[in-house]
Amino acid sequence: MRQKIVAGNWKMNNDLKESLKLISEVANMVTDEVSNDAVVIVSAPFTNIYALDQWKTGSSAVDKIKLAGQNCCWEESGAYTGEVSAKMLKSIGADYVILGHSERRQYFAESNSQLAKKVDLALKHELIPIFCVGETLQEREQGIHFDVIKSQLKEGLYHLIKSVFKTVVIAYEPVWAIGTGLTATPEQAQEVHAYIRQLIAEGYDEETAESVSILYGGSCNPSNAASLFSQKDIDGGLIGGASLKSRDFTDIIKTFN
Ligand code: G3H
Repeated sequence: MRQKIVAGNWKMNNDLKESLKLISEVANMVTDEVSNDAVVIVSAPFTNIYALDQWKTGSSAVDKIKLAGQNCCWEESGAYTGEVSAKMLKSIGADYVILGHSERRQYFAESNSQLAKKVDLALKHELIPIFCVGETLQEREQGIHFDVIKSQLKEGLYHLIKSVFKTVVIAYEPVWAIGTGLTATPEQAQEVHAYIRQLIAEGYDEETAESVSILYGGSCNPSNAASLFSQKDIDGGLIGGASLKSRDFTDIIKTFN
């Protein structure tokens, strides 16, 4: 059975006070209303993760909500002003890290080879990568979206041995659906998720392909989550905008109830 996961990516939103308010609302709702065993992840700005971890430790949601970074450095340590290392993230309570988000690829020119190094460091420090792949609108219109996703996966992750690859979470996020209100249809998303699973089966084996959780991201909200998550190869979501509202985020998690 693959792990069901709902991960909220707060992106560059919420200062410390706002972060603590939002996580306490989510924790209360999750504790009271969620009756499934989906893993709930909150990916907050670096500055707030330690405080969220401290807050969580005293809460009933301590085991239910996991924390994630939104990026980490491709180097272990050193003269990289402004960067945050995988080791640092782990030390303040993160269990996961989002890597290769399209906003990082687009605004910070992150390459697949650089991402492969980030993946290694994350795993070395016991952070589970949530590795993002996805095509732009132009790439979809050109009909090269499958090739783009194949390169992202192969160059970013295929150096991992099978037992390690199995621990990684993959997120398919069509760039044209992120923050636009334009969601991929369940059929479009399922088609790509099935393709990713097939690529994993070819690169590793069927058992590995069946064990990796693949999340959908891109304008996912309480109204469309059920139809997306009911697809055979969609194991949950990476949620941006809707994760900033405790009611919406909880309703998405409840889709698995
Ligand atoms: O990481 C989350 C994705 O970029 C989706 O963002 O739900 O605001 O479209 P969105």
